[in-house]
Amino acid sequence: MSETVVSGIRPTGKLHLGNYFGAVQNFLKFQENYDSYFFIADYHSLTTHPNPEDLNSSVYRVFAEYLALGLDPEKCTLYLQSDVPEVAELYLFLNMNAYLGELERVSSFKEKVRSQPNNINAGLLTYPVLMAADILLHHGTRVPVGKDQEQHLEMARTFGNRFNRMYNNEYFKEPFAIGSDDGLVKVPGLTGGGKMSKSAGEADSIYLDDETEVLRKKIMRAVSDSGPADPGAPKSQPVQNLFDLMALVCQPDVIAFFDKAHSEGSIRYGDLKKQLAEDMEHFIAPLRTRIQDTLKDRERVRKAAKMGAEKARASAAKTIAEVRNIIGFKGI
Ligand code: TRP
Repeated sequence: MSETVVSGIRPTGKLHLGNYFGAVQNFLKFQENYDSYFFIADYHSLTTHPNPEDLNSSVYRVFAEYLALGLDPEKCTLYLQSDVPEVAELYLFLNMNAYLGELERVSSFKEKVRSQPNNINAGLLTYPVLMAADILLHHGTRVPVGKDQEQHLEMARTFGNRFNRMYNNEYFKEPFAIGSDDGLVKVPGLTGGGKMSKSAGEADSIYLDDETEVLRKKIMRAVSDSGPADPGAPKSQPVQNLFDLMALVCQPDVIAFFDKAHSEGSIRYGDLKKQLAEDMEHFIAPLRTRIQDTLKDRERVRKAAKMGAEKARASAAKTIAEVRNIIGFKGI
């Protein structure tokens, strides 16, 4: 077991179906096969200046949801970033060798400069340095991130290598992506666009704890088209989306039935959605129960967070002691 997986989870509200198939399912596999560190990236979230109550409740919520969905504190290290202040020290060290020019060239930073010109703080500029610290702190070698994070990951390699060169010490390992976007299941939203996403509005996402009625209504209102299409015509994007969602939760014969109806030009989208809603309810119901039970069980959540913090700090303290020594902080 020589690979170490590290992944940060943004505490942005409830988890949806896209998060489940995009992240959670992978994490469940990783915790069986690798030394895995999963943390709620709450230091990172300060770049947007959340108020303390909102911050606290969203951190609690995501942590509890991941726990509910099967991340096991015995099998992985599940923790809050802010419970491990050692990461801030490593961030400080790495910042000394992170250059303004390279940080300004990062796409996500340039995007923020465009989208929020009134809040370009130093935390945003050095976001990739903190992310590198997150990973290098545990000597991560595998990082489950999508394409949007590739550049950050590349910088983590750069900063680690630069440290190694500077101190002439092969200390940090290079982290690489694992299970990124391609090859993963497609989870489109309900409003006819691309990937399921919170920013596309409430109606786009199926949350893992949506109540039966909410879920049914969302699916019945999902965007389709004015179909049925002429026999043999290809599926429109919104209809393909519905089929992609069916592929996640419906039986193959059900999908084949609607596929045939579509190509014969006899499909009734109302029937398709009714079936999708029913099968989705079957899929969501047990997750919903587990999430609701876990959210209520503060003791269980606290205990898990405490255990995670202890394990993460043990790993972090070792790294920081070694790094201090390499740098020359050896006491006088
Ligand atoms: N930047 C990641 C995101 O936006 C979150 C993150 C923070 C992360 N630190 C990390 C991911 C370390 C992987 C490893 O989703």
